[in-house]
Amino acid sequence: MKVFVYNTTQEASEKAYDVFENAYNNGANVFGLATGSTPEGLYSEIIKSDIDLSNCISINLDEYYGLDKNHPQSYNYYMYDNLFKHKPFKKSYVPNGMNKDAEDEVRKYNQIIDEHPIDFQLLGIGVNGHIGFNEPGTPFELRTHLVELTPSTVEVNSRFFDSIDEVPNQAYSMGIADIMAAKEVLLMAFGEAKAEAIKALIEGEVSEDVPVTCLKNHTNVTVILDQGSASLLSK
Ligand code: PGA
Repeated sequence: MKVFVYNTTQEASEKAYDVFENAYNNGANVFGLATGSTPEGLYSEIIKSDIDLSNCISINLDEYYGLDKNHPQSYNYYMYDNLFKHKPFKKSYVPNGMNKDAEDEVRKYNQIIDEHPIDFQLLGIGVNGHIGFNEPGTPFELRTHLVELTPSTVEVNSRFFDSIDEVPNQAYSMGIADIMAAKEVLLMAFGEAKAEAIKALIEGEVSEDVPVTCLKNHTNVTVILDQGSASLLSK
């Protein structure tokens, strides 16, 4: 695992762009993408660059169950607004939160991943160590599934909604098995709230109680941190 720590999120996002571009230059064509505040700087760097993604595929990690793709807090909308409207891919996949038939949505999304094996997977991390919406206790062998969000995740994400009651408490998420199957992983984490989860990743044991620790078993992982998320590391 390669770990880089930067003083500012801007420097960290520029480094993340270099890692992304390097993967692209080495032939990566299918990009697993993430939402949240953490990758916004990387997406800005991608937009500013002259990289051409129009022959590439993107497959997002997750989507809230019950939110339409035009809902401003849906991850479909986030991706359109933060990246795709500026830098279109040949084809972009995000789970369909409006598909109430979970078995059907899961089957379709796993089929998409099977048809387009992920070359490069971008990840943020939750305060509780989740990746995608794989909450603590999720079996590592699961693929895409319908998730019950933990109260902690609902509360953390309520900052984007008018009230906590509007935050969906379920989501479709790729599983840990899908993330682990990616050829290369880039994880970004900013802020002290993530420090405990980052310490578990870098200095702890592999445990389903802290989903991100699965990455200790992946052979090609880059971790990009700021001082806050790195603050509990022993060196
Ligand atoms: P954040 O979310 O980037 O908004 O902190 C990350 C996550 O919950 O995976």
